[in-house]
Amino acid sequence: MTALLPGTATLGVLGGGQLGRMFVHAAQAMGYRCIVLDPDAISPAGAVAEKHLKADYLDSFGLAQLARDCDAITTEFENVPALALETLAGMRVVAPSGASVAVCQDRAVEKAHFEAAGVPCAPHAVITNEIELAAVDPALLPGILKTSRMGYDGKGQVRVATAAELADAWRGLKQVPCVLEQLLPLKAELSVLVARGADGQLVNYPVQQNLHRGGILAVTEVPAPDVPAEVAKRAIAAARQVAETLNYVGVLCVEFFWLDENDAAGRPVSDGRLVVNEMAPRPHNSGHWTMNGADVSQFELQVRALAGLPLQAPSQHSASVMLNLLGDLWFSAAGGPTPPAWDRVLALPGTHLHLYGKTDARHGRKMGHLNITADTPEGAHVVALQAAAILGLPTDF
Ligand SMILES: Nc1ncnc2c1ncn2[C@@H]1O[C@H](COP(=O)(O)OP(=O)(O)O)[C@@H](O)[C@H]1O
Ligand SMILES: [Mg+2]
Repeated sequence: MTALLPGTATLGVLGGGQLGRMFVHAAQAMGYRCIVLDPDAISPAGAVAEKHLKADYLDSFGLAQLARDCDAITTEFENVPALALETLAGMRVVAPSGASVAVCQDRAVEKAHFEAAGVPCAPHAVITNEIELAAVDPALLPGILKTSRMGYDGKGQVRVATAAELADAWRGLKQVPCVLEQLLPLKAELSVLVARGADGQLVNYPVQQNLHRGGILAVTEVPAPDVPAEVAKRAIAAARQVAETLNYVGVLCVEFFWLDENDAAGRPVSDGRLVVNEMAPRPHNSGHWTMNGADVSQFELQVRALAGLPLQAPSQHSASVMLNLLGDLWFSAAGGPTPPAWDRVLALPGTHLHLYGKTDARHGRKMGHLNITADTPEGAHVVALQAAAILGLPTDF
């Protein structure tokens, strides 16, 4: 593909959330025009793009307009119908492809891809009917039943300890296709961001260590404080392998569990304690630190991959901690929503605030993130704890 040179081209984005907004910011900084397609009249990305097409993802008129006015199109929304990407691909450069996104949209297909790529994932069973339910290996219990499609931030998941609980949980999930995963003894959660160009060039960031609270990412630390170099090396190799075998184009985030040596019953866990969990076909919340801690951000890499520009191997220049800022922070005092004390937070050294332009704060809603950079991991960690204390966030990291 010939590169779409900055200053000459228009890039399209399916989805108008914060990931789209940060993509648009990066694209505009390089001189691209941007058009966002999102059905919602109020959208963080639509508000900053040159144009916001308010249309459904499968609206043929909206897609045709996007294709007419853009030179290349990406998605920021994992659950955009793969068909929308395939329709656009008939007219324009599209990355990632509908086929790659489709793999990421279905846990059963995704796990099959991991296995085909030779990357171990959690022991699991696919449950789509009563026969498969009855045939579940008891060794998978206790486990987590997850809907195959549309789950995010821990939604669509039920923990089950017995076959009877499993059957109830599957009924509770309306008997949609599900995956039952063995409950694993997590020591830490990690992720690796890679970016791959249409020419096969492949680059990656260092391993990120992630802390989730209530199923939602809360803290990311890079370098990963608890992860031995050998484990980090394997995670990076696995993420690269997953992207290669998908023939993926764009930024891809692969999430891993790093396990205790033994499971809850004291049985040794196989495969050297690193298993892949899931992947996201786009820049990822755990990569937001790259906006301040690396020389090239994950959003710029997505722009470069989409436009067919060279991908610089990114380099981390500062130890980084990212704190996710959920709407809950606006409700820490009694009464109506009040913004947190940003002035006090920003008085701390190396703090970088990113808010997504969402006007109504709600519990669990991603409103922004705070990046903390420092010369050393310890330095970033100390300031992150101070920021968390000011914000009223847990200081359990
Ligand atoms: N097999 C498992 N064993 C132990 N914990 C798990 C397992 N699967 C998921 N979890 C926990 O639940 C969180 C959300 O699960 P995940 O599969 O990543 O779903 P989502 O798509 O909602 O992010 C994970 O980050 C992890 O903390
Ligand atoms: Mg997850």
